[in-house]
Amino acid sequence: MNRSVRPTVALVALVAGACVRPSAAPVVTPSPAAPAPVASAPAAGVVARAAAVVPNPNAPKVLVIATGGTIAGVQDAPGTLGGYRAGTLTAEQITASVPELARYARIETEQFSNVASTLVTPEMWVKLAKRINVALQRGDLAGVVVTHGTDRLEETAFFLYLTVRSNKPVVVVGAQRPATGISPDGPINLLSAVRTAASPRAVQKGVMVVMDDRILSARESRKLYQRTGGFDTGDMGMLGVVASQGPEFFFAPVRRFGERSEFDLDRVDTLPKVELTMSYPGGTGQTFTTNPKGVVVATTGMTAAENATYRALRQTGVVVVTSFTSGENVNGGGGGGDGPPPARVDTAARRDSVARPVVAPVPPGVVALHLTATKARILLMVALTKTNDPREIQRIFNEY
Ligand code: SIN
Repeated sequence: MNRSVRPTVALVALVAGACVRPSAAPVVTPSPAAPAPVASAPAAGVVARAAAVVPNPNAPKVLVIATGGTIAGVQDAPGTLGGYRAGTLTAEQITASVPELARYARIETEQFSNVASTLVTPEMWVKLAKRINVALQRGDLAGVVVTHGTDRLEETAFFLYLTVRSNKPVVVVGAQRPATGISPDGPINLLSAVRTAASPRAVQKGVMVVMDDRILSARESRKLYQRTGGFDTGDMGMLGVVASQGPEFFFAPVRRFGERSEFDLDRVDTLPKVELTMSYPGGTGQTFTTNPKGVVVATTGMTAAENATYRALRQTGVVVVTSFTSGENVNGGGGGGDGPPPARVDTAARRDSVARPVVAPVPPGVVALHLTATKARILLMVALTKTNDPREIQRIFNEY
C-alpha cells in the first residue's frame, strides 16, 4: 500500500501525463499493489479546470483508497469504444483527474491494489476492512472513499458494511466507462463519492455506494447492467442523491451495521469457506468436495430431492442458508417481525412412540431476509467467524 497526501500542482502535472498503455488485448492487471506504468497522453481540459479551482484549506479530510477497476481503466486508444484495461491508473492519477475534489475535501490517497475486481478475494476484503477501521480512528479524517471495479463492487461494499465499525461514512465507487473512454463516468462518480464521504449528513448511514448521482446503501446495492445507471437497490430504494448543492439524504438504514456491528476482524485473516448454488426444476441438490462450513442455496422453493440433499448436509454440521432468487423476499426467519424465529427443527425421526434408535434432530436451515444469494454468502462467511449454531446465525440474518 502506498499512501500520499496530494500536492495539487504536482498532481495536475501527473494526470496530464497519464493514460494509455499501447496494447490491444482487454486484460486485467494481475498483481495487487503494483500499478503498471502508463505512457503519455494529455488529459484534455483537466489542467484548465484545475486552474479554476480554489481549494478549500479547511475542507474535511477524505482518504481515497484505490483498488482498481474500470474507474482506473484505460482504453487501447483514448476516446474509442475498444478494449480496455481495468486497474491501470493509480490512485494519484484518478484523483488528480478531478481537480474539483479540492473544493470539498483535502484528499489523501492510498493504493491498496490495482486489479480488475474479478481478482478481488475474501482475504483482500479482510485486509481492506482492517485498513479502513484503522484509518477511521484518526480524529482528523471525515470519511473514506474506496474506488473499485463494478463487477464485484456490491460484494466488497457489503463486506465493509458488516465489518467497518465506525459511524463515519465509507463510500464505494466505480465506473462503467474507462477513464480515457468517451464521456467517462468515473470522474463525476468520484466527485460525488468524495462529496458524500466529506459530508456530516453521511454520518451513521453505513457503507454506501455512490454512482450516477445516487446514494445507495451497500446492503441493497446491486449491479443490474454494464451501462451508466446500472446500480440499483430493487424495491428498497435509494438513501439519497448527490444534488448540485451536495448530498441530500431522504432515508437512513435501521438494521445493524457500523458501530453496532458485532463482527470483529482483529483475529481474522481468512473467512470460512461458503459455497453458493441454485435450485431449479428437477434439481437434486449439490454436494461439495471443498468441505464448506456453509452453503447458500438461491431458491424460490426446493424440489423434494434438493430438500433431502440439503437436509443431509445440515445433519453433517454444514450451515445451509436459503436466499430467495431475486433477493427481494422477507418471509421466514422472523426478522423484523413481532416474534422470535421459529426453530425449524426437523422432528420426523421422533414422531412415533415405537422404540427406535435415538436420532439427533436435524439442525434448522437459515433463511436470508431480503438479501441476494451473493450477499447472503458474505453474511454467512462473516457470521461463521463467530458461531456455527444455525439458530444464532438466523438471529444474525434477522438483524443485519
Ligand atoms: C472490474 O470490475 O474491475 C471491471 C468492470 C468495471 O469496473 O466496471
